[in-house]
Amino acid sequence: MTEPVRILFVCLGNICRSPSAHGVFRQRVSQAGLEAKLLIESAGTGDWHLGKAPDRRSAAVAMSRGVDISDLRARLVTSQDFHAFDYLLAMDNSNLADLQAMAPANHGATLGLFLDYATASGAIREVPDPYYGGDQGFEHVLDLVEDASDGLLLTLRQKYSL
Ligand code: 4NP
Repeated sequence: MTEPVRILFVCLGNICRSPSAHGVFRQRVSQAGLEAKLLIESAGTGDWHLGKAPDRRSAAVAMSRGVDISDLRARLVTSQDFHAFDYLLAMDNSNLADLQAMAPANHGATLGLFLDYATASGAIREVPDPYYGGDQGFEHVLDLVEDASDGLLLTLRQKYSL
């Protein structure tokens, strides 16, 4: 069996956007029966919430769409992640710039924006930080994450013949 393709979703706090991406994509992968082929984690570039469960607003919106993210815990992105993962997918341009700034020389990972894989979200290229906003922001995050998760899964299935 070939090695799994390894994907790390990255945001700032690792309690709202990247755990939502982690949970939604994990569910899509499970529904496709590809758990052994795609390894999924999430992490943050900021250290305020290390070890914490996802923000209750993110968890509630995800649950309302049938996605349980209550088992996830926040952790930091590390330099090892650039070797341990094939894709590091950032939620916004600031997250991506942080990743590029901390990337070790000669790493083999692909760095990019998660929404590059979205197909239905039009010109929106970043998942907006919902932390200081209202409930609608969390619904919007899930809309974008669901779209990009479907596109990412399709892209990886085609690229790796999964
Ligand atoms: P996330 O949202 O990056 O989507 O997890 C945030 C969570 C916490 C903070 C900022 C963004 N914070 O400043 O504590």
